[in-house]
Amino acid sequence: MRAVPERVTESIRRAGRLAFPASCEDPTGPLLAALAAATPPHARILELGTGAGVGTAWLVSGLTGRTDATVVTVEIDTELVAAVREAGWPPYVEIVAGDAEPLLPELGRFNLIFADAVAGKWTGLDRTISVLAPGGVLVVDDMDPARYPDPEHRATVRRVEQTLAEDPRLASVQLRAGTGITIATRCHQ
Ligand SMILES: C[S@@+](CC[C@H](N)C(=O)[O-])C[C@H]1O[C@@H](n2cnc3c(N)ncnc32)[C@H](O)[C@@H]1O
Repeated sequence: MRAVPERVTESIRRAGRLAFPASCEDPTGPLLAALAAATPPHARILELGTGAGVGTAWLVSGLTGRTDATVVTVEIDTELVAAVREAGWPPYVEIVAGDAEPLLPELGRFNLIFADAVAGKWTGLDRTISVLAPGGVLVVDDMDPARYPDPEHRATVRRVEQTLAEDPRLASVQLRAGTGITIATRCHQ
């Protein structure tokens, strides 16, 4: 098995120092790396919710040897933004401070999106789908409703699942792995 990339280990340590509890878990991280590695030349990749930078680090690890891609990651918590910006990232990583939902229409189109914030996932999902390029892949985790004691949140998870399964623009699959992962690819039409 491939070792955990050093940048990911550093980001996990940062999350510990910041007492940030919500970093992505396996197998989401390695999946992000594998999907980032498969993106086309000059790919644009978006993460909604930077947290402590663990998901960003996995995405970057999949881009090893490339300088053509762009990774945009959006985080509303300015303390997290400052802490993550302090780490050394490749120049193609852009850490944007702000609320992802109103920002989404201004960010352009993306070949890979990791929707991992309230905004653009539990609310405003349609905005996220709208910025997926044809052939672009959307990854949403935390999709196992059984994880949530709150019936309202379980209903939200089911609504998001249903939207991703039934949207005619998407081909989607639910993976019962980790926290529950849905992958939805935007069709070429
Ligand atoms: C699950 S964590 C992200 C973990 C990170 N993607 C990773 O893989 O390690 C969700 C993050 O979304 C941020 N967030 C919540 N609402 C947001 C919003 N409206 N816009 C941008 N970020 C938001 C939270 O502050 C939190 O850091």
